[in-house]
Amino acid sequence: MKKYQDFATRAIHSDEGHKNELGALRTPIYQSSTFVFDNVQQGANRFAGEEEGYIYTRLGNPTQADLEKQIADLEGGEAAIATASGMAATSAAVLQFLSAGDHLIASDTLYGCTHSFFEEMLPRWNIEVSFVDMTDLNNVRKAAQNSTKVIFAETPANPTLDLVDIAELAKISDDISSRLIIDNTFMTPYLQRPLEMGADIVIHSATKYIGGHGDTIAGLIIGSEEDIIEIRESTIKDIGGIIAPFNAFLLLRGIKTLCIRMDRICKNTRKVAEYLNAHPRVIEVYYPGLTSHPQHELAKRQMEDFGGIIAFELEGGFTAGRNLMNEVELCVLAVSLGDVDTLIQHPASMTHYVVPEEERLEAGITDSLVRISVGLESVDDIIADLDQALEACH
Ligand SMILES: Cc1ncc(COP(=O)(O)O)c(C=O)c1O
Repeated sequence: MKKYQDFATRAIHSDEGHKNELGALRTPIYQSSTFVFDNVQQGANRFAGEEEGYIYTRLGNPTQADLEKQIADLEGGEAAIATASGMAATSAAVLQFLSAGDHLIASDTLYGCTHSFFEEMLPRWNIEVSFVDMTDLNNVRKAAQNSTKVIFAETPANPTLDLVDIAELAKISDDISSRLIIDNTFMTPYLQRPLEMGADIVIHSATKYIGGHGDTIAGLIIGSEEDIIEIRESTIKDIGGIIAPFNAFLLLRGIKTLCIRMDRICKNTRKVAEYLNAHPRVIEVYYPGLTSHPQHELAKRQMEDFGGIIAFELEGGFTAGRNLMNEVELCVLAVSLGDVDTLIQHPASMTHYVVPEEERLEAGITDSLVRISVGLESVDDIIADLDQALEACH
């Protein structure tokens, strides 16, 4: 296929949906657990890797494969694997490159379950974890050990919108022969491509913007062919967090409108951030698009636009944060993000309740912090809803 340069064209044309026997425009959903061999020799050849072809859906499936090719192309990677959830992507990628006795450095602000996976599960296998504030990369250099095999960062981070300088972090990772894994969920490859900045692996919760419609749970891992083959043949094959064919189809569909959704979301978010920033009851707004964001210059350098997430702190602490949730009418009170609907949530009592209070506060997730994922509705309606809710939430 001719290689198109422009992301928007590739998001529509770099799948191979129509290359099926019947010429269907869209990639068929191969909703089959297993694949039939013509004879025993063919089965043996496929298991031995001597003949191309499918065996069993946990090991590969044509709908998954089409999605994997497309997302690898969009992220600028050689290969990809689609997983059952974002957490399946994180766990498969991280476990692949760590053994007992190894060390992981992670950013201190992370999605809550990523944090608890690192803090509570990895030490059970004798893997040491250091959480560091990566807004200052000296902290990473100081934490590095001979046994550091993986550096993991989320940028922007969930939910404080702290950024990490990916290109600089990649240099540190190279210096210590570690693998750099970036969670690119908040940005999508349309807005940020960490592999082009030197990261080794990108993971996504594709549940969010890539799916985009709040109707599927899925994840993605993108990297070099060698790394992806290892992950596919080890942590995915043996632990089993592969995507279902129907969910792969939903992601292929979501990718078709990714650019146009993100453009509208970014535009809406800018206006909501400006509105919140000027509101007397809002103490602080965290959004990398504001010139007051301490890492605004970095945001302009490594991101194409500023994304759809805003966090803000309200006057009135925990109670005000919770009350606001009960007053919104249009904004939907739900965790998750990246959907067509505007979603609002209170991290201290929801997504980050698993993070111990002291660590939560240290990572900037205060009691009154509210996270909003701006959707595709009319921005005037979103702002009107927030306005009446802020008025009522004393
Ligand atoms: C930044 C980030 N990474 C990973 C995940 C986990 O993804 P999933 O819920 O698809 O397992 C989430 C979920 O909210 C997230 O926000």
